[in-house]
Amino acid sequence: MTSATQPVPVISATGLFTPEQSISNEELVESFNRYVDLHNERNAEAIAAGELEALEKSSVEFIEKASGIKARYVLSKEPILDPEVMCPRLPERPNEEISVLAEIGVKAAQQALDNAGRDAKDVDAVLVACSNLQRAYPAIAVEIQDALGMEDGFGFDLNVACSSATFGLQTAADYIRSGSARSVLVVNPEICSGHLNWRDRDSHFIFGDVATAILVEDKEIAPAAHWEILGTKLKTQFSNNIRNNFGFLNRTHPDSRDDADKLFVQEGRKVFKEVVPMVAAMILEQMERLGIDSTDLRRLWLHQANANMNRMIAAKVLGHEASADESPTVLDTYANTSSAGSIIAFHKHQDDIQPGEKGLICSFGAGYSAGTVFVQKAA
Ligand code: COA
Repeated sequence: MTSATQPVPVISATGLFTPEQSISNEELVESFNRYVDLHNERNAEAIAAGELEALEKSSVEFIEKASGIKARYVLSKEPILDPEVMCPRLPERPNEEISVLAEIGVKAAQQALDNAGRDAKDVDAVLVACSNLQRAYPAIAVEIQDALGMEDGFGFDLNVACSSATFGLQTAADYIRSGSARSVLVVNPEICSGHLNWRDRDSHFIFGDVATAILVEDKEIAPAAHWEILGTKLKTQFSNNIRNNFGFLNRTHPDSRDDADKLFVQEGRKVFKEVVPMVAAMILEQMERLGIDSTDLRRLWLHQANANMNRMIAAKVLGHEASADESPTVLDTYANTSSAGSIIAFHKHQDDIQPGEKGLICSFGAGYSAGTVFVQKAA
């Protein structure tokens, strides 16, 4: 006999893995400026002859004012700060060993499972939803499925840049609704440091490394302390204003400076101008559709790319300047962690939310792409 009621997807728990090493703005700028001095000294003749532009120094004040970022966690600090290297050096691992991206994903996933009191054997699917995939295949999700000891089920990777987590959340929720799965892990491992051009003054401060995980389940099997998913919406619209042609791996040589387009590049000002109105309009539209008023929103867990962007989006949604309590930031310590940002904010800033209160997880970024997930703490 089939049940007449459709399964209801909820968020059972989240997990977070934070690397041990952190780089402060002061350390980052000191190293960048040493690189600038070295470059300008080594190329003094060409610069004097007008054949080459002298590089300009970075500044801690600019970084903090333009982005709200004060530090970032990384997996490989020393080489990033070495002006002769300026990229992470993560030793290649043999195929028999777990890959570094899967490894950090497993740590976050295991924490989400522990928080929900769920055995990995009872999970049906793993979706690795992130920007910075390490390889083409086999999918990192399948490796995580194996490492967690799941005996059955399936996994795959999906990439919608910084919006990946909310795209993963909607996909997981749809699987629950359709009956394809009852328990789905959405994992967001991000080694952004391998895709950032640490020699680019405009963006060298933007990213950090981290992994997050979200367990989405059928309400019937979820722990009592869960989050109802009130509604989800996804949107994409093509733009080249944020682009990555696939990291250090695809560069002609790891130290090459000529193929900077194989790393993260953006038209930051255009991104700011175009993405803020797109995301604010999308959130307001969804609030209307779901009958949610701005006064109903206890908290916004926004994508963590830039503090000024978040301030503007939150003000448009709430109708007033948001307090740190209404729209918490993790940018100061984590920087932009791509798909994981809104999930770190959600993971770290949810314990004080009371049963029945509502909030919004929202991510946005390259594509362009944006996703909204309205949630309510279970009563
Ligand atoms: N240190 C000191 N000065 C710097 C600098 C640095 N590291 N980088 C740039 N500057 C200077 C520029 O040279 C420029 O100087 P000028 O006015 O004399 O020409 C000035 O600061 C302003 O530069 P600009 O790039 O216009 O800064 P901004 O205020 O737009 O801030 C971003 C830059 C990237 C932080 C901002 O545009 C932004 O957040 N955009 C959206 C980014 C985003 O969310 N991307 C999504 C990624 S997933």
